[in-house]
Amino acid sequence: MTRPKMLGIDFQIWASSHQSRFEDQLQQLLPQPDIAPQRLHAAMRYSVLDGGKRVRPLLAFAAGDLVGADSMRVSIVAAAVELIHAYSLVHDDMPCMDNDVLRRGKPTCHVEYDDATALLVGDSLQSLAFQLLTEHQLSNDAVQQLAMIKLLATASGSRGMAGGQAIDLTSVGNQLSVPELEFMHIHKTGALIRAAVLLGAQCGSALGEVELARLDRYGKCVGLAFQVVDDVLDSEADTVTLGKTAGKDAKQDKPTYVTLLGVQAAKQMAAELHSEALEALAEFGEPARRLCEMANFILLRKF
Ligand code: IPE
Ligand code: IPE
Ligand code: MG
Ligand code: MG
Ligand code: MG
Repeated sequence: MTRPKMLGIDFQIWASSHQSRFEDQLQQLLPQPDIAPQRLHAAMRYSVLDGGKRVRPLLAFAAGDLVGADSMRVSIVAAAVELIHAYSLVHDDMPCMDNDVLRRGKPTCHVEYDDATALLVGDSLQSLAFQLLTEHQLSNDAVQQLAMIKLLATASGSRGMAGGQAIDLTSVGNQLSVPELEFMHIHKTGALIRAAVLLGAQCGSALGEVELARLDRYGKCVGLAFQVVDDVLDSEADTVTLGKTAGKDAKQDKPTYVTLLGVQAAKQMAAELHSEALEALAEFGEPARRLCEMANFILLRKF
């Protein structure tokens, strides 16, 4: 198994400079708080800005690096994916779902505002994501751009994130098999992560079928690994470090890799997925360096 290297200073500089530029861009792309309806716009900004690791945008930038994609184009797909992700978190925290009060170290959207506003924040962020993908040129080929929009729609909807969330909710208190749990995780979390990788790459010149399949395999592996690590952190990390309430999965009787396999086997599985992700990139060589580092980051993260 490939051991992840410690995250070097060069990667940390790359990540933090992208995170800070991306934050400025989100500031501009979100409706300004003085525009009506002010309260909804303030709640959208509250839920998106100033928080989060921005893993999906970083994956899109890393995939863009692989193909030398135009960085402005990549930053639009990165924003669209992050808006869908932020919407999924706002809804995930609502009383009808996980009923959480803390997110990114702040009160959750429905606690800071109210349930109806949180619902509308999710709706509006989702619409804004697709608005961005249609009002900016992302590809020289209009057919390719349509395919990109379809990719994000599929990854977000009932065959992707929302479908995975539905399975998550109906699984509470049930013993799932390993394949059933994998199916749930691939959908609720893996789908958007895979979309971030593919969309970042699709902002550049078209990849061949074999190369696209390799990148797809990488996206699937890091997407699943991300949720396995989330399950481990929920059981091992503390609330202050996570910026969200620790120990919620066990308390709510959610099936996770930790409850199903135990924490050691869950960590082992994340490590195997990490190795498979790196293996999928091997033929790309140096241009895939940032994607390799992102796989390391996903495995080694502490929050
Ligand atoms: C949390 O995602 C929800 C999951 C899909 C596991 P992140 O851990 O990426 O959350 P932020 O964006 O950094 O807050
Ligand atoms: C959420 O999974 C996945 C989403 C689609 C938002 P979790 O419910 O485990 O995420 P956290 O732990 O609340 O961030
Ligand atoms: Mg949840
Ligand atoms: Mg949750
Ligand atoms: Mg979790």
